Amino acid sequence: MNVSDAVRQRRSVRDFRPDPVPKSLLTEVLDAARWAPSGSNIQAWRIIAVAGAERDAIVEMTRSAASAPGFGKTADPFPIYPPELWEPLRTRRYALAEDMYRALGIPREDKPARLRHVARNFEFFGAPVGLFFVIDQRVAHGQWAHLGMLIQTVALLLEERGLGSCMQEAWASYRPQLAERFGLAPTEMVYCGMAVGFPKSENPVNQFERSRITLDELVDFRGF
Ligand SMILES: Cc1cc2nc3c(=O)[nH]c(=O)nc-3n(C[C@H](O)[C@H](O)[C@H](O)COP(=O)(O)O)c2cc1C
Repeated sequence: MNVSDAVRQRRSVRDFRPDPVPKSLLTEVLDAARWAPSGSNIQAWRIIAVAGAERDAIVEMTRSAASAPGFGKTADPFPIYPPELWEPLRTRRYALAEDMYRALGIPREDKPARLRHVARNFEFFGAPVGLFFVIDQRVAHGQWAHLGMLIQTVALLLEERGLGSCMQEAWASYRPQLAERFGLAPTEMVYCGMAVGFPKSENPVNQFERSRITLDELVDFRGF
């Protein structure tokens, strides 16, 4: 598979087969991903990979944390989105939700079913492996962008090996619990997670047509 194919074929997988991912395969991917670039090569990142009992314990942890009083009431100092998205960003976000819930056969007004799908994030969408990307809170904005380089590199290397992934900012909801579980340093935090496994390709949620802005919207060519 060449890079262009990997970029085009990778998609967010939201339903996985339970088949285990061999540790050797994951190790190969993560070892290759070390070569992702970062400004000044500072590599202000690390990954926690979970499978088996540790993965299951995290899934269980989310269930008990979510039912604890006061869950989700404290404002996250590193919110994933600004409180109000503006246009055209708002519409793009809405369009993704529409496409995804249509593929899942969930009508717009069925909020409980939508919430059940969102909750599948915290089962890694059935994937046997979860990755957590950890960043130090003391970094500047640049290092957050650097971390994105690593995340996409991992995703493309997985794609090359026939594995699927879904990046998961949803895990931000459980940052304090994950920090405690992993024994993170006080300055560290989980930025996002990633579900990794073999896709259930037959599920329409893994097949719906995705959209992107046009090349003209993306690029302002000057001086060519
Ligand atoms: C950093 C990052 C975090 C994401 N978090 C989630 C998530 O928590 N749950 C989810 O279902 N999709 C998540 N996504 C997937 C995006 O919705 C998806 O990348 C986007 O709709 C484009 O679709 P594609 O990945 O299938 O090409 C995330 C994507 C990125 C890049």
